[in-house]
Amino acid sequence: MDTLQILTYLVWLVASVTFILALKFLASPRTARVGNQLGAAGMALVVAWTFFTTDGMLANWWIVVVGALVGSVVGVLGARRVPMTAMPQMVAIFNGAGGGAAAVVAVAEFLRDAGAEGHADLLPLPFIIATLLGAIIGSVSLTGSIVAFGKLQGFIAPRPVKYPGSQAVTAVLALALLAIGIYVAVVVNSIPLFLLFVILSLALGVQLVMPIGGADMPVVISLLNSYTGIAVAATGFVLNNYALLIAGTLVGASGAILTQLMCRAMNRSLFNVLFAGFGTGGDAVAAGAEGEEQLREINADDAAVLMAYGKRVIIVPGYGMAVAQAQGPVRELMDLLLAKGVDVQFAIHPVAGRMPGHMNVLLAEANVPYDRLKEMDEINDDFADTDVALVIGANDVINPLAREEGSPISGMPILNVDQAQNVIVLKRGRGTGFAGIPNPLFSNEKTTMLFGDAKPSVEALVSGVKQA
Ligand code: TAP
Repeated sequence: MDTLQILTYLVWLVASVTFILALKFLASPRTARVGNQLGAAGMALVVAWTFFTTDGMLANWWIVVVGALVGSVVGVLGARRVPMTAMPQMVAIFNGAGGGAAAVVAVAEFLRDAGAEGHADLLPLPFIIATLLGAIIGSVSLTGSIVAFGKLQGFIAPRPVKYPGSQAVTAVLALALLAIGIYVAVVVNSIPLFLLFVILSLALGVQLVMPIGGADMPVVISLLNSYTGIAVAATGFVLNNYALLIAGTLVGASGAILTQLMCRAMNRSLFNVLFAGFGTGGDAVAAGAEGEEQLREINADDAAVLMAYGKRVIIVPGYGMAVAQAQGPVRELMDLLLAKGVDVQFAIHPVAGRMPGHMNVLLAEANVPYDRLKEMDEINDDFADTDVALVIGANDVINPLAREEGSPISGMPILNVDQAQNVIVLKRGRGTGFAGIPNPLFSNEKTTMLFGDAKPSVEALVSGVKQA
């Protein structure tokens, strides 16, 4: 082994350690920034090392530099401009780009090696298997992520889109891919067949994600993220680059763990998420928003008094708090109530909002201390002993229909808001949540509604508590 090779292994080792440490740091909002920077620094090191030490790179430096510049501009603009509420779409599209890159590398490697002059024998089987895996998983991740982006951005119907026989088409596609893959691997390294394999893989990505919708999108995005990791790991194998292999494996594994955690948070199996078409059962009730039942209203001053003279208030934030950007006033409300001797805590549902950790990030932004944020399992038993549950733009995560057999969100664990003595719900009107179904909690006799955009509503509560 020459010195350059030894140094390359060392660089890969250092970078891999930064990736693992980055994951560790990302586990807490307090250290997440450092984790992010550490992982990015490790990746930058490997990219720079590869650029300066790989044959032919310097000769074609401008391709790499132009690519890096275009990518950096798109990345920086995207990250700066995209609002917090559109973060899942951004994750989906960045993720798709990663999968697409892995697929492109697989295609380029196959075309080069299978098309090499004088190439007659079959390419080594492990190489072909890794190339086929990189191509199929990367392609599925690319088109699947584009569809997920379109659904979340509202370009495509967010509901599950199915047509008669769609599952049969998916099955035929999968079988065709298997057959072509085996043929290309062990019979002949045919370039046209390999390209057909890639095209069918792209179609499979669309087929797999179109029938999914509603509240299942976060699971799908996390799963696609995991696919991208696996595709990148396969690419690392093809290119003989251990840093890429390790980075891809880490992304693949963490994406798979996150997918599993989210499935658990919704009490559904992954198979059910992927093939059962969540939300379809809710279509019947989803057409309208909340029914026409009489909802009891409360004004901000009365709500403020109820909280200021209580012993314990649990705040339940949801997607509406993110839309209204109400986290700043929410923090102020918490401070005022604490100063009056009220115990204030936040109940965080694992899928509240539109991305994992959405509520944690927003509340951290407003400097709400982490120890006030309680996970669902930690706080669910406390609602019974709570004077006021203040719901700020949450809906599905507190919907008691989840406890009923046969409802579209049946079995999804929810926050036990209905066990509190009083429930005050802040929302603009009778709009439904992400799952598109009515919420009987709003017409519960304990519940009162404070209608309006969450930000001015919380500001009104703040001035009410000041006067109480
Ligand atoms: P949702 O069920 O989506 O309900 C949000 C509520 O906020 C709506 O009922 C809406 O009612 C209200 N709202 C919207 N804008 C508002 C504003 N400016 N001011 C006040 N209220 C406003 O939210 P949730 O309870 O957080 O549940 C999240 C849902 O999204 C779950 O179904 C989850 O599975 C799904 N999901 C989660 C994720 C992740 S990973 N967190 C990702 C994608 C999807 P009005 O229109 O009447 O105001």
